[in-house]
Amino acid sequence: MMDLTSKYLGLNLKNPIVIGSCSLTSNVSEIKKLEKHGAGAVVLKSIFEEEILMDAENQLQEAKENSFIYDKYSETLDYIDIHVKEANLNAYIQLIKGAKKEVLIPVIASINCVSSAEWTSFAKRIEEAGADALELNISLNPTDMEIRDFETTIKEIIQKVLKTVNIPVAVKINNSFTHMARTILDLSETGIAGLVLFNRAYTPDIDINTMEAVQGRSFSSPENFVESMRWIALLSDQVNCSMAASSGIHTSEAIIKQILAGADVVQLVSVLYEKGAEQINILLNELEKWMTEKGFSSLKQFKGKASSKNVGNPAVFERIQFMKHYAGIN
Ligand SMILES: Cc1cc2nc3c(=O)[nH]c(=O)nc-3n(C[C@H](O)[C@H](O)[C@H](O)COP(=O)(O)O)c2cc1C
Repeated sequence: MMDLTSKYLGLNLKNPIVIGSCSLTSNVSEIKKLEKHGAGAVVLKSIFEEEILMDAENQLQEAKENSFIYDKYSETLDYIDIHVKEANLNAYIQLIKGAKKEVLIPVIASINCVSSAEWTSFAKRIEEAGADALELNISLNPTDMEIRDFETTIKEIIQKVLKTVNIPVAVKINNSFTHMARTILDLSETGIAGLVLFNRAYTPDIDINTMEAVQGRSFSSPENFVESMRWIALLSDQVNCSMAASSGIHTSEAIIKQILAGADVVQLVSVLYEKGAEQINILLNELEKWMTEKGFSSLKQFKGKASSKNVGNPAVFERIQFMKHYAGIN
C-alpha cells in the first residue's frame, strides 16, 4: 500500500494534491466533487479585500443616482455599505461551514489582500467558522509606485493576522521580488506555517489585428512549473515553514519534480479547468506508478532528494546566466 500522506501547515493530508484557490472551490458541491476525485485538501476561492469594497461602492453609487434616497435618507448609505459587506462576508462564512460539514479533507480559506487594514478582523470569523487554515494571497502590485518596500508591507499584514488567529497561516506570494531568496527565508521566519510559490500574475497581450491591448492567457502552461521548482529546490532545506508549489503544475512529472525539490504539496488549478476534476485521480495513479518503478513506498522517501543541498551540482539551481550553456550551442 502506497503512503502518499504529506504534512502541510501542520495538517495531515492523505496526498500532496491541494486544489488551489479558484472558482472551482467557490461552492460546496464542487468541493465535494474534488474530494471524490482524490484531492488532498482545498483552498477556497479568495474573498478579496477589493471585492468587498467594490460591491459596497456599486450599491452606494446606485443609491447616489437615486437622489430621493440619497438626499432624504443619507444615512441609508451607511446602512447599505455595512449591509453589502456583511452579505459578502456571511456568504463566505457559509461556504466554510458548508464545506467543513460535507468533506473530510482540510479546508483552507483564502483572503486576497494588499494591506493590513479593515479585513484582518474577518480572519477571526474565518477561524470561528471552522477553516483548518488560512491562506493569504498578498497581491502587492509591482507596478504600484506608492509602495516602496513590499517586504515590510507583507510582514505587517502577517503580524496583524497572526495576532488575530490561531489556525495555521500560509502566505502566497508573487514571483517578483528584488531578492527572492532573502525574502522567502525572511518570510518563513515570521511565524507563518507555509509559503505558496507562486501566485500566477495576470498577463497582458496585444491583438495584432485590432492593435488593442487585451488580456493574455488566464491559464498557466505546463512549462511554468520550473520557476517555483527552482526556489523550492534552493530553499526547502532552509525555510522554517511548509512549502507549496503552485503555477504550471499540469502533469505527474511536474508533481514528482516539485516533491523531489522539497515541496510538501502542490497546488493545481489550470489543469483542472482544462481537463476536469477526474485529472486528480489520474495524476495520483501516475505518481504511484512512478513510485513503484523507483521502489518508493512513501513520499517521505524521495521528498527533497533533488533539493539543492542533496544534488551533486547545486549550481544548476543557482545559475542565472546562460553564457556557458549558449557557448556550447553551434
Ligand atoms: C479562474 C481562476 C481563478 C482564480 N482565483 C483565485 C483566487 O480567488 N485567489 C487566489 O489566490 N488565486 C486565484 N487563482 C490563482 C490560482 O490559485 C493559482 O495560483 C494559479 O492559477 C496558478 O496555478 P495553475 O498554474 O495550476 O493554474 C485563480 C486562477 C484561475 C485560473
